[in-house]
Amino acid sequence: MIQLQAPMPQDALFMHMDDESFQRLSTYVTREYGIKLPPSKRSMLESRLNKKVKSLGMTNYKHFIDYIFSEEGKQTVLFDVIDLITTNKTDFFREPAHFDFLTKQYLPAFKTAGNDSLNIWSAGCSTGEEPYTTVMVLEEFRKKNPHFKYNLLASDVSMRVMQTAYQGIYTLDKIAGVPHEIRREYFLRSKVQPDVVRIKPQFRKNISYKRINLMNDSFGLNSNMFNIIFCRNVLIYFDKQRQEAVIRKFANHLRPGGILFLGHSESIMGMNVPFRQIRPTTYERI
Ligand SMILES: C[S@@+](CC[C@H](N)C(=O)[O-])C[C@H]1O[C@@H](n2cnc3c(N)ncnc32)[C@H](O)[C@@H]1O
Repeated sequence: MIQLQAPMPQDALFMHMDDESFQRLSTYVTREYGIKLPPSKRSMLESRLNKKVKSLGMTNYKHFIDYIFSEEGKQTVLFDVIDLITTNKTDFFREPAHFDFLTKQYLPAFKTAGNDSLNIWSAGCSTGEEPYTTVMVLEEFRKKNPHFKYNLLASDVSMRVMQTAYQGIYTLDKIAGVPHEIRREYFLRSKVQPDVVRIKPQFRKNISYKRINLMNDSFGLNSNMFNIIFCRNVLIYFDKQRQEAVIRKFANHLRPGGILFLGHSESIMGMNVPFRQIRPTTYERI
């Protein structure tokens, strides 16, 4: 006789986070990483973490939260949890006005002023699209200015995204919006996987990587060392006070006249920081 199994109710597969667990996790994440987690984010957290909880053989969030804050959990899964909580959406040539500004105004003026070496930091680089776009823009400039040199530092709090950035491997759909001549110049097509491309090695090597939590008091970087800092679509997840504290630290690492690019919905309005706005979401260190 064939026995039919009753279908599993959908809800049984989904684990809900109790109030106390949510409170403990959100307090920790905001304090250590700056990321705000109001109650409206609870279901987002559940959907990002449920698989992890189950993979540890646990059946409720209380055990999971106890574990991630235990000595063993801190050594093993806490970083994975942070990786899952961060939002890593990014794109090549995202917010292109910043790259246009570099090409049409900043770089020509930089050259006219007699400079030939640029230090840039992509803070919150995610999977690498932002620093690689910057490399493409700088390399295009270098074609006509062979003495031009640059150093590019890319950092993020998530090791997982930085690993992707370091490898420079993307699916074809990620570069759909990249102009054809730029694709030909900077990407290699995989011979075995037709829908995969990789940044050419000579361009990958131009970026150095460092795990930096922007909430740290010190970033382990020299003062006044950068001409340009990109920190786009990162501080949007922080509250105003923490945003201001990070921007003040950026001021310390930028040379006078240096440029800070923020994301489209971020601004320094109402902050007491040494910058003046020169274009939308573009600030000059004063
Ligand atoms: C939405 S992505 C932005 C990527 C890129 N800058 C862009 O605009 O396309 C935000 C990145 O900020 C990183 N992030 C979040 N909190 C951070 C922190 N406290 N320190 C450093 N990076 C952080 C996340 O891991 C994520 O990769």
